[in-house]
Amino acid sequence: MNLDQCRALLKKRLSVDLYRHTLGVAETAADLALTYGADRDKAYLAGLLHDYAKELEPALLQQKAKELQLSLDPVTLSEGHKLLHAPVGAALIREELGIVDPEISSAIFYHTTGRAGMSVLEKVVYLADFIEPNRDFAAVGRLRELSRSSLDQAVLAAVDLTITLVLQRGLMLHPDSVALRNDLIARIRKQGNGG
Ligand SMILES: [Fe+2]
Ligand SMILES: [Fe+2]
Repeated sequence: MNLDQCRALLKKRLSVDLYRHTLGVAETAADLALTYGADRDKAYLAGLLHDYAKELEPALLQQKAKELQLSLDPVTLSEGHKLLHAPVGAALIREELGIVDPEISSAIFYHTTGRAGMSVLEKVVYLADFIEPNRDFAAVGRLRELSRSSLDQAVLAAVDLTITLVLQRGLMLHPDSVALRNDLIARIRKQGNGG
């Protein structure tokens, strides 16, 4: 499947808004990949496909997760589609589109929670999801600015925002997001100490 076919399929599959968002994430992830040294084409494709499963009905999403025999943690299972669309999407692009690249798959799998030790590709997709041009929220300008100077600082600001929202809304906090935050702080401290 080439990129044109992939975009055509997504245009058919997704709502207008989500399709626009995926194009924004793809382009932003590709730009960030160039800046921070990840594979530009993989970043574009992962960005394009990151929300592949986002608009599946909640019951269907659960059913797919079962059919695909995904072994998922209790938080992902409890929080439903908000988190579940990421691992299901990663599996579905393999099953339905034949995209088996493990780096792309993992960037999609972790695009909502993050995790400790994220690859640059995973980080650029994670961050692009927040700062693509169609996003409009109070902190987006600061995130875009940070994204130009430090990938880790920008991802940290993004995960902090997510954790804050999760707490405000009384939702379950995914341990991978906490692990990502701690990992980034450790990395940033190390960089600050000259290596
Ligand atoms: Fe998503
Ligand atoms: Fe998204």
